[in-house]
Amino acid sequence: MKKFFLAPSILSANFARLGEDIQDVINAGADLIHFDVMDNHYVPNLSIGPMVLESLRNYNINIPIDVHLMVKPVDNLIPQFAKAGATFITFHPESTYDIERTINLIRDHGCKVGLAFNPSTPLSFLDYTMKKLDLILLMSVSPGFSNQSFILSTINKLREVRKRIDSYASNILLQVDGGVKLDNISEISFAGANVFVMGSGIFQYPDYKIIIDKIRQELKNSYFRAIH
Ligand code: DX5
Ligand code: ZN
Repeated sequence: MKKFFLAPSILSANFARLGEDIQDVINAGADLIHFDVMDNHYVPNLSIGPMVLESLRNYNINIPIDVHLMVKPVDNLIPQFAKAGATFITFHPESTYDIERTINLIRDHGCKVGLAFNPSTPLSFLDYTMKKLDLILLMSVSPGFSNQSFILSTINKLREVRKRIDSYASNILLQVDGGVKLDNISEISFAGANVFVMGSGIFQYPDYKIIIDKIRQELKNSYFRAIH
C-alpha cells in the first residue's frame, strides 16, 4: 500500500500543556507535526513563533516538524525557524517578493522546502519552481483558522498537482490542509494527496490513538476497495 503521512496540526492542540499533548499524538502514531505560524497580517489570526518550536525540540519532540508560515514577509523568520528545529518550511508565494530567493534561503538553512497554495492561488506558481520543492501544500480552506469546512474544488486541484508530480516521476510530497476528517480522507487520498494535515479531525477526540487507527484503517480499506 502507498505510504500516507498524518500530520496533526498544532493549532488544535492544548497550548496550556503543549509538549505533553504533542507527545501524546506522536505516541498515538503521528508521522510529523504541522506547526502553524500566523501573524495577524497575512492571515487574520495570531499563533506561535520559533521560541515555541525550540521548546518542543528541547522537550524531546524528535519527529519531523513541518512549519507552515502564514506570515508576510517570510524571509527574516526562516533562519530562526531553521535554528529552532524545523524539518520542512512551507510558505505562500503571495507572501514574498522573490519566490526563488525564499526557496534558496530555506534550502541554505538546511530545511526541506514547501510551497503553499490558497484555494484561489493558481498553480502557475509551480511552473518554474517545482523542481526545487520537497512538498506542495494545497490549502482546502482559507488559511487562518482550524475547524472550517473542506472546500470541494480542492479535489480537482489535487488531481492536477498529482499529475504534474507524476509526470516528473518525482517524489514531492502532496500535502492537504483544512477540513480533513475521517469521513472525507479517502476521497482526498484518491485525488492524490499523501500528507494529511488534521487539526480538529484528531485533537477533538479524547483518545488520539483510537482516531488515528481509524483513519489508517479507512485509508487501507478504501485502497483495497479500489484495487478489488
Ligand atoms: C488553517 C491551518 C490548518 C488548520 C487545520 O489555516 O493552516 O493547519 O489548523 O485545521 P482543521 O484540520 O481543523 O481544518
Ligand atoms: Zn496549516
